Amino acid sequence: MGKTIIVSNRLPVKINEENGQLVFTPSEGGLATGLGSIYKEGDNIWIGWPGTTAETEQIQIDITEKLKELSLIPVFLRKEEVKRYYEGFSNEVLWPIFHYLSTYANYDYHNWLSYVQVNQKFADAILKQLNPGDTIWVHDYQLLLVPGLIRQQQPQVSIAYFNHIPFPSQELFRLIPWRKELLMGMLGADLLGFHTFDDVRHFLSAATHLLPVQADANRLRVENRIVLAEPFPMGIDSDKFSNLSKDPTVIQHIQNFKKNFADKKIVLSIDRLDYSKGIIERLNAFELLLEKNPEYLEKIILYMVVVPSRDSVPQYKLLKDEIDRLVGNIIARFRTFQWSPIAYFYHGYPIEIISALYNVADVCLVTPMRDGMNLVSKEYVASRNDNTGVLILSEMAGASKELNDALLVNPNNISEIRKALVSALNMPEDEMQDRMKAMRAVVFKFNIKHWVKIFMARIEDVKQMQRDSRAN
Ligand code: F6P
Repeated sequence: MGKTIIVSNRLPVKINEENGQLVFTPSEGGLATGLGSIYKEGDNIWIGWPGTTAETEQIQIDITEKLKELSLIPVFLRKEEVKRYYEGFSNEVLWPIFHYLSTYANYDYHNWLSYVQVNQKFADAILKQLNPGDTIWVHDYQLLLVPGLIRQQQPQVSIAYFNHIPFPSQELFRLIPWRKELLMGMLGADLLGFHTFDDVRHFLSAATHLLPVQADANRLRVENRIVLAEPFPMGIDSDKFSNLSKDPTVIQHIQNFKKNFADKKIVLSIDRLDYSKGIIERLNAFELLLEKNPEYLEKIILYMVVVPSRDSVPQYKLLKDEIDRLVGNIIARFRTFQWSPIAYFYHGYPIEIISALYNVADVCLVTPMRDGMNLVSKEYVASRNDNTGVLILSEMAGASKELNDALLVNPNNISEIRKALVSALNMPEDEMQDRMKAMRAVVFKFNIKHWVKIFMARIEDVKQMQRDSRAN
């Protein structure tokens, strides 16, 4: 049995240069913590971009050496590549199309060329580390061509791919000028994983409409090779969030928050800055609540954390301005001398603060317009050890398929979100407990370890199916 090579655009550590020193901080994402358990095992490794452009050769050597101790292999990107491959193609074509915002897409040919070239760079880095018997697990939309590029060089190797964002209807996907190349790239894998059954359906529909491939249910035949496309809803490290709620530092933060917001209901909103997250609509819904339900004036706070992200991409800059404007308007309209309806923060927080917020929030309001899974909703549930709290969740988040004891809403319907807020704030204790218990059972059972285990086992199954089909 060979090693597993995990590949993603970003490595699970972030590197910054501060005062001439390299500062390594672990990434907090679900992917990083979840796969942490397997990439540290045996000879397994993780290949990805360390998040810095590391201009000089000496800095690259230093970073490479330090990362090696952590079983991490860096792929360095030049500034131009960050601009074209990451910001330009990944985040100005694939991200908006995959999130159903086709009018935001910017089909720049040079950005596409850079995407091809950087995917090749990742493929070369993988091939350098590859030994017979290894399994390659590629993650997310930034690297759609990588499975195909590897397959050309290594026809027998085991390759899996997981898509962390939604896969759109083929009517949207087919708008991309390089749609066939992208699909062919994905089909280099033996196993293609998606969060939901609908994502799988959309992918199969795109592949069979746009390429000369046949599908038998979720099994495709690509140049005489079996390829499976299946749903694997991603879980979180639920124990970690549950245990954090008992951590003394977190408890201290919880007490401070409780003191500051003594007689107020706290509605929590946490996202990366992104137009897919429905932040504007959420603010509109909150404004409507204050307007239609004056009984909540001075009794409620929307605690809104927006984590800076991709702010060199034009649509993200515009969104930031729009959020700032709207928050300002709502505060100016409703605030009193003793109270402000929104506490708005535009930066990231350490996990201990996030955990404390999950613990003090009476309601967690998660209303993306479109989301592959949405881990915040699961982290909130995992943090609520006493089974209190209400989750309001968008139907458009992959998590809504599993967390159907949340109050599910259409994120475009601000009146429905307002009503859900009223229901949440008035929910009888026993109903709240029943709903939270049911959601916790799901989040703890189908956690990240379970996700990794079933996904890895399925790669073995596909390889066996391929051997059986060759033997017949
Ligand atoms: O889950 C989607 C995703 O794009 C991941 O691939 C990525 O690690 C995360 O969101 C954060 O995005 P970025 O790497 O662009 O900051």
